[in-house]
Amino acid sequence: MRTFYIETLGCQMNVLDSELAGSALLRAGLQQADTLADADVILYNTCSVREHAEDKVYSALGRLKNWKQTKPHSILGVIGCMAQKDQKLVFQRAPHVDFVLGPGRLDVLVDTIQQLHSERPRPTKTVCVSLHRPTNKHVDVLESFRQYNPERTIHDVTEPSLVRIMFGCDKFCSYCVVPFVRGPEQSRPPQDILNEVQHLADQGVTQITLIGQTVNSYRHQEGRKQTRLADLLYRLSDIASIEWIDFVTNYPLHIDDDLLQAVRDLPQVSKHLHIPIQSGSDAVLKRMNRNYTATQCREMTDRIYGTIPGATMTSDFIVGFCGETDEDFERTVDLVEYCRFRNSFIFKYSPRPGTRAAELYADDVPEEVKKYRNNHLLEIQIEISRQLATESESE
Ligand code: 5AD
Ligand code: SF4
Repeated sequence: MRTFYIETLGCQMNVLDSELAGSALLRAGLQQADTLADADVILYNTCSVREHAEDKVYSALGRLKNWKQTKPHSILGVIGCMAQKDQKLVFQRAPHVDFVLGPGRLDVLVDTIQQLHSERPRPTKTVCVSLHRPTNKHVDVLESFRQYNPERTIHDVTEPSLVRIMFGCDKFCSYCVVPFVRGPEQSRPPQDILNEVQHLADQGVTQITLIGQTVNSYRHQEGRKQTRLADLLYRLSDIASIEWIDFVTNYPLHIDDDLLQAVRDLPQVSKHLHIPIQSGSDAVLKRMNRNYTATQCREMTDRIYGTIPGATMTSDFIVGFCGETDEDFERTVDLVEYCRFRNSFIFKYSPRPGTRAAELYADDVPEEVKKYRNNHLLEIQIEISRQLATESESE
C-alpha cells in the first residue's frame, strides 16, 4: 500500500474533503499516484445532489472492476455524500468496493484503510456512516457527524485555499438531500477559523474562499457574544497577507445589510456573490420550502446593486420541479431578467429518495419540458451574460 488517488465529484465541500483526506493519507506515509491506474488505494468522493451524478459514479466504479482484478491487494473506497446516502447499497451495485465512509466520518479514513490493508488478502467490507437524520433538527444525531479539520498540505499557494466555516445544513429545502447526508448545521468557532487562516497565511496563502452550504447563515454564539459572517470578514481582513476573500454559497434570505456593507467596505472581499434562487415562482418556492418570495429576491437584488458599486451575482435554478407550470417557469424567466446574473447554473429537477419532495409531490414535468425549460433559461442567461460583458468592456 504505497500510493493513492482521489477522484472528486460535486461541490467545493467535496473538493476540500478530498484535500483533507489526501493530506491525512500523505501524513500516514502514502504517496499520491499520478494516475488512477497506478494507485494502490482509490477513493471516489461522490455527490448525491442529482441522480445523474450518482449514475456517473456507479459507471466509473464498474470500470474499476478490472483494475481490482489485476491488483488484488488494492483498496477501493467510496466517500462523500453518496456513501452516506447509499451505505451498503454501494456493495450491491459495485461488489468490488472495499469500504464506504460518510462525509461525517472522514476522521476514521486512515484507520479504515490501514485495517483493510492488514486484513489482506481477503479484506472484509466496512461501512462507517453517520446516524440517519429525520426531517428536523434533532440534535441527537449531531455527534455522529464529526467535524473533521486536520492540518493539511498546501500544494499551490497561488490558488485560493478553501476554508470551511460551517458544516451541514438545516434548511431542508424539499428537493435536497444535503441536510441528510451532511448533517446538522454547525458553525465553527471564529477563533478556530482565524487560527486556520493565519496558519495558511504563514505558509504563503494570500487568497481564501470561505465555504458553507449556506455560508451567510454563519452564526456562532459564545456567552453573549454573537459572531456573524460580516464580523468574521472584518476579523479575517486584519490578517495582513490575506489579499482576497470570497465566500460561497449564500442563502437569499440571509443577505443582510451588515454583510453587504462589509463586502462594500473591505477591499480584500470579492464583490461577487453566488446566491442560488432556484425559482421565480412563489408557488414553486413554497413547495421547495425555500421560505422566501420572488419579491424578496428582487428587493435583495436592489439592495446588493444599491450598496456595492460594481457588484456581480451568479445563481442556481432548478427547472421542472414538481407541479411547475408554464406560468411558473415564466416567473423564473422574469426574475432572471430582473436580477441580471453574470451567470446561472441551471439544473433539471431530479427526485432524491428520502427528501420531502420525493415523498409528497409527483415528478410530473415531462423530461422534454424540463429540457426545453433548461435550454430556454440558459439562452436568456447567456444573452444577459453577453450584455454584461459588453457593458464592462466599454466602462
Ligand atoms: N434536483 C436538481 N437540482 C438540484 N439541486 C439540489 N438538489 C437538486 C435536485 N434534487 C441544485 C440546486 C443547488 C445546486 C447545488 O444543485 O440548484 O443550488
Ligand atoms: Fe440543500 Fe437548501 Fe441546504 Fe442548499 S440550503 S444545501 S439547497 S437544503
